[in-house]
Amino acid sequence: MTIQWFPGHMTRAKRQMQEALKTVDMVIELRDSRIPKASQNPMIEQLIQGKPRLILLSKKDKGDSREIDRWIECLSNETTIVVAVDLIHDNVVEIIVNACKKIMKPKIDKQISRGIRPRAIRAMVCGIPNVGKSTLINRIAKKKVVETANKPGVTKALKWIKLHKDLELLDTPGVLWPKFEDQEVGYYLALSGAIRDEILNLEEIAAFAMKRLIEQYPENLKQLYGIEVIDDPYKMIEAIGRSKNLIKANDEVDYARTIDFFLRDLRDDKCGRITWEKANV
Ligand code: G4P
Repeated sequence: MTIQWFPGHMTRAKRQMQEALKTVDMVIELRDSRIPKASQNPMIEQLIQGKPRLILLSKKDKGDSREIDRWIECLSNETTIVVAVDLIHDNVVEIIVNACKKIMKPKIDKQISRGIRPRAIRAMVCGIPNVGKSTLINRIAKKKVVETANKPGVTKALKWIKLHKDLELLDTPGVLWPKFEDQEVGYYLALSGAIRDEILNLEEIAAFAMKRLIEQYPENLKQLYGIEVIDDPYKMIEAIGRSKNLIKANDEVDYARTIDFFLRDLRDDKCGRITWEKANV
């Protein structure tokens, strides 16, 4: 999928998000476990304005569990709870209900102490493309009744999914834009599959990925390709080409084919569970 965010799209997405936010008690923000920072929307903090938030680090089955734990520690605070999930296999309903109740507990306790009976928590799912928003909503929606309700301040009737007696989700997730200014973020998004290859410089991405793997996951490289790891990413790519016999007629390594080969291995998770960005704990 190509991400094409133009200023007009961004303004519209922002406005829709602001409208929807008025109707919810909290936000469920999805990010990719492999790139917890690059898959963040740059304006989310400002948009949610201190509302309680559950950050779901999706695709945990593809990420490095030790690094994910560091991210959980680093991103958690009084108003934000962080949970890593495999949206395809985990019991997402139970995970989400428990986490939402936990982060909303101070508010709910306050209502109870004032004699107010708390209603079901209302939450909205949001995140940049490809983080798993539809996967999450579809998994939940299959099992649950979808209700329609008019909420003040919103012209269009919003559909709510009754996830549990204590939790309702807006059935349409908020699609946000990623951060573009930073070239590294672009590379990370490409490696996660959020940006289509055609619009990217594959050599740069491969060299970037190789550099990160050499620094952080040399054992994975060694195991996958069965060769000694060389410090220089370009030489390492060349060594892989040679070892896989990706050679041109003049006996030089076919660099383009090797890059394709390497990037495909990454996409197919052959290099193991990787979290590209390191948390600053
Ligand atoms: P979006 O609505 O936020 O854009 O994301 P979507 O649910 O479409 O998910 C994007 C891809 O990520 C889908 O793969 C989906 O199956 C996969 N995915 C979502 N959550 C998880 C998870 O926790 N673990 C794993 N392993 N995969 C997950 P797809 O349909 O094959 O699309 P693509 O991979 O070709 O982009």
